[in-house]
Amino acid sequence: MVLSTGYRKIRTAVFISGTGSNLKSLIKFSKVKKSPISIDLIVSNNSKANGLKYAKIYKIKKKVLNFKKKNLSEKKLLSILNINNIEMICLAGFMKILSKNFIKRFKGNILNIHPSLLPKYKGLNTHERVLKNKEKYSGCTVHFVNAKLDSGKIILQKKVKISKNETSVSLAKKILNQEHKLFPKAILKVVNF
Ligand code: GRF
Repeated sequence: MVLSTGYRKIRTAVFISGTGSNLKSLIKFSKVKKSPISIDLIVSNNSKANGLKYAKIYKIKKKVLNFKKKNLSEKKLLSILNINNIEMICLAGFMKILSKNFIKRFKGNILNIHPSLLPKYKGLNTHERVLKNKEKYSGCTVHFVNAKLDSGKIILQKKVKISKNETSVSLAKKILNQEHKLFPKAILKVVNF
């Protein structure tokens, strides 16, 4: 990780596609006095993403790019990230896969949160698959992003126990609560502030 630590906060962009509860927890974290990051940009591929409301609430710049032409959207995005001096990207429920080239540009500086104990259950519908396989535990993972889906180096994980009558809805909620704590912790770990 080439991020600077010290007096200056790391300029961070958060990418979302939906509710944005992780975004909200990251914004709260960024406002803590000793936080190493500032959140300077919210990016979404979905103009209807509920999480975009946090841009207004917290007066953070936002940008929506539809990713229909991925190359073009990524090119625009890179220039926006540049103009805003973004040094780190946090993917928080962002449902598009970024290209190798884009990832290379931000080498080591893109983090993702995934609702499973990676390397198990990469991809979508994790909770359903976990329950179907009668797992005793699941959890969440923050990892660096590389060119392969949900496969980059793991930074931190949190395990949760699956209850007797667990449903995918109750499990998602339980894990999401842990995600909100895990992402800030993972950031602290990688920036070594
Ligand atoms: C989280 O479970 C995250 O791990 C997954 O998508 C969900 C996003 O939730 N990638 P939110 O938009 O942060 O509320």
